[in-house]
Amino acid sequence: MGGEVLLTPGPVMLHPEVLAALSRQVVSHRSEEFRRELDKLREGIERIAGGGTALVLTGSGTLAVESMAWSLAGPGDVALVVSHGEFGERLIDTLRRRGVVVEALRPRAPGEAVPLEEALARLERGIYSVVAMVYTETSMGLSYREAERLAEEAKARGARVLVDAVSAFAGERVPRPGAVDAVATASQKALAGPPGLGFVVVSEEAARLLRGRPPSGVPNYLDLSKVLRFHEERRETPYTPAVNLVYAMNRAVELILEHGVEAWIERHRVRAEKVYQAATEAGLEPLVAAPSHRAWTVAALRTPVDSAAVAGALLRRGIRVARGMGELRGSVIRVSTMGWSPDRVFDELPVLLREALEEARAASAAAGG
Ligand SMILES: Cc1ncc(COP(=O)(O)O)c(C=O)c1O
Repeated sequence: MGGEVLLTPGPVMLHPEVLAALSRQVVSHRSEEFRRELDKLREGIERIAGGGTALVLTGSGTLAVESMAWSLAGPGDVALVVSHGEFGERLIDTLRRRGVVVEALRPRAPGEAVPLEEALARLERGIYSVVAMVYTETSMGLSYREAERLAEEAKARGARVLVDAVSAFAGERVPRPGAVDAVATASQKALAGPPGLGFVVVSEEAARLLRGRPPSGVPNYLDLSKVLRFHEERRETPYTPAVNLVYAMNRAVELILEHGVEAWIERHRVRAEKVYQAATEAGLEPLVAAPSHRAWTVAALRTPVDSAAVAGALLRRGIRVARGMGELRGSVIRVSTMGWSPDRVFDELPVLLREALEEARAASAAAGG
C-alpha cells in the first residue's frame, strides 16, 4: 500500500536519495569501485559508533546479533544476560545454542528496568566471562541506560561485553566500542536505510581476539574473524554482499553525518517526547512507567481496547504502527520515531491518537466488548 506513513520499529521510511542510490548499476564486489564503497560505509558506521572497527554483513539484525554472539562467546563461557523482553530472551537463546552457560537477569515486572545495583551485585559473584544485553528492547520500548555503567564494571572484571543495539544505534547514546566490546545493529532502524545489512562494531580488544584465534565451531557465515580478515586484508567481504544496499547505506549514513550524529540522536529524543506526551494525553499509557527508561526510537503504549482496533483506526488515518509482541500483542501498540517519516506527523499525533482511540472504543462498544 503506497502513501501511508510508516511508524513501525523497522523497516522505516527512506530518504528519496537513499532510494535513488539503490537503483545504481551493480559493480563487481571484487572491484576497486566497490572497495571504496565498503571503506566509506565502514568509516561512516565507525564515526556514528564513536570508534571501533565496523564489520559489514549481508543479512538482518538477527545475523548481526548471532554473529557477535557466536564469534565472541563460546563453550566454556559463562554469561550474564540482562533481559527486558523478547529480544533479551532471543539473546539468551542464541548464547545457549552456542554452548554458553547463561544466567538471566530480568526485571521484577515487564516494563521495569533491572536496577543497576542488582546487576552489579550479580557481577560480584565473579563468574562471568561475558556480559550481554539489549540496549533498546524493542518489544517494550525500554532503553537500558545503565548499560555503560554495567559494562564498565564487567570489563574491569575481565568480561567481554556484547550489546544488541539493533534498535538503538544512531537513535540513542549507545556505549562506544571500547566501553563495550561489540555493538550489533542493522540497516533498517535508526540508520534509516533499507532492510538487509547488519553491522557489528568491535572494540580494539575484540578485534585482537578475532585476529588471534578464529573461533571454533562457528558457521562460516557467522564468523566475524573471517569478515574482519577480508575487510582488513582485501577491503572486501568474504561472500557476495548486497552491493546496492551498500550504495544506499552509504547515502543514508552520509545524511546522518551531514545532520550531525548528536543532532540525529536528538531528533529521535524530541520525536519520542512528542509521542509519549500525545499518548498520555490521549489515554494510552506508556508500557515503561519510568521516563528515564522510555526508549527514544520506539514507544510501546498500552491500549485500553484491542490494539488491532487502535492500529486499524490509525491506519485509516494513514499511519501504520506495530502491535505488541508476544503476550502484549493485543494490548500494546508500538510507535517508532525512526527513519524519514515526516516531522509533521509527530505534531499531529495528539489529534490522531485521540481520534483513533475514540473510534476503537466506539467499535469495541458496538461489538459488545
Ligand atoms: C533489539 C532487536 N534485536 C534484534 C532484532 C532483530 O533484527 P532483524 O529483524 O533485523 O533480524 C530486532 C528487530 O526488531 C530488535 O529490535
